[in-house]
Amino acid sequence: MGKNARQVTVRTETGEQGDIRLRCGSFPTGVVVGRGLLPRLNSLTGRDECPFVVADEITGPLFGDYPGKRKGMHLLPRGEKGKSLSSIGGIYASLAGCGMERTDTILALGGGVTGDAAGFAAATWMRGIRLIQCPTTLLAQADSAIGGKTGANLPEGKNLVGAFHPAEWVLSDVECLRSQKEEDFRQGLAEAVKYGAGEDWRFLSWLEENAGPILRRDCGVLLRLVSECSRMKLTVVSEDEREQTGARARLNLGHTVGHALEAASGFGRWKHGDAVAAGMMVAARLALRLGELQENTVRRIGRLLRSFGLPLTPDIPWEETAPYLAMDKKFTGGSPRLVIPGEGKPCRLRDDIPLSLLREAYEERIAALDGTSLSMYS
Ligand SMILES: NC(=O)c1ccc[n+]([C@@H]2O[C@H](COP(=O)([O-])OP(=O)(O)OC[C@H]3O[C@@H](n4cnc5c(N)ncnc54)[C@H](O)[C@@H]3O)[C@@H](O)[C@H]2O)c1
Ligand SMILES: [Zn+2]
Repeated sequence: MGKNARQVTVRTETGEQGDIRLRCGSFPTGVVVGRGLLPRLNSLTGRDECPFVVADEITGPLFGDYPGKRKGMHLLPRGEKGKSLSSIGGIYASLAGCGMERTDTILALGGGVTGDAAGFAAATWMRGIRLIQCPTTLLAQADSAIGGKTGANLPEGKNLVGAFHPAEWVLSDVECLRSQKEEDFRQGLAEAVKYGAGEDWRFLSWLEENAGPILRRDCGVLLRLVSECSRMKLTVVSEDEREQTGARARLNLGHTVGHALEAASGFGRWKHGDAVAAGMMVAARLALRLGELQENTVRRIGRLLRSFGLPLTPDIPWEETAPYLAMDKKFTGGSPRLVIPGEGKPCRLRDDIPLSLLREAYEERIAALDGTSLSMYS
């Protein structure tokens, strides 16, 4: 946690059916992590809900009927095109068709793409209506559904348009995660490791101890995993809701290099979590050079990422990634600002990193972690 973290406390309660409920004094979002949440929508929010559901072509058929009574439903195309302005225009047309009013509610039912697009529609429809997020991917439950960032992609770049519009409720039903494709599930695991190495090293140990049940998607273990990540995300965003003090930048561990890898690969071959995993390893190797991490700890992070099936090293030449690094919002005047992990403490945003050192860490090939040699997907 950051130096101001003590000012922020997340209240945790256990609900009737064993759900974990989190609320942070100053933040407008209540988070419930549990099983079988969608059919209990009314009792969880304490209102007679009749939301307009935004899902995608996978999550609509899978979960669309669970929330019960609804005003209408709009299905987005799956994948990043679900966040294009034309897809969001499609949501507006459906909202207009249903006569959605200022007092109505949008319920986002899907992964991060659906959450961002539905959230953006909720932020802008009649200048902002109530939003409930029901994230159905690990990435969305552990990260993107909490914190109020909504957005859309333009042909010129990802997430270039957006608004802060926190959901009133984030209802994370871990049972939904059981149908995720393995490749999609591991994208969320990269974010979980980010919380461990970036915020709370005890959580990293817990991930190591529970890697087997996590990969088997044991619901009890997922409940703990999602609630711990949600607690950390709530804590950090409550410290710095609008990304002004720098606290929220800590959540970008692995993301500066990660975003550059995603962009350099044309947002195709390198998926977000995979790119964050390799970016985190670059940050860890940089931390080793800066005297912030011990070699054993770098190996430890690498072993955990690898056990989750995540890649450890970029496979795109530095010259191809560097132009995208320079476009990153966290680069100031050509010198990198990077989140660097620290041994047993929270990570820190630093702006004194020599570019040559970053290049060295980027280009280093890990010969071995524990005797086995490693390639991109080891
Ligand atoms: N707002 C934020 O703070 C924030 C933070 C991180 C990432 N994001 C955004 O999140 C997006 C990535 O989110 P994502 O990884 O969830 O991707 P996604 O929404 O594209 O979901 C991945 C795939 O899984 C399918 N799916 C969803 N739930 C499923 C389930 N339970 N079972 C089976 N299939 C399911 C979807 O249809 C999709 O094909 C990116 O657009 C990224 O920019 C936003
Ligand atoms: Zn991320």
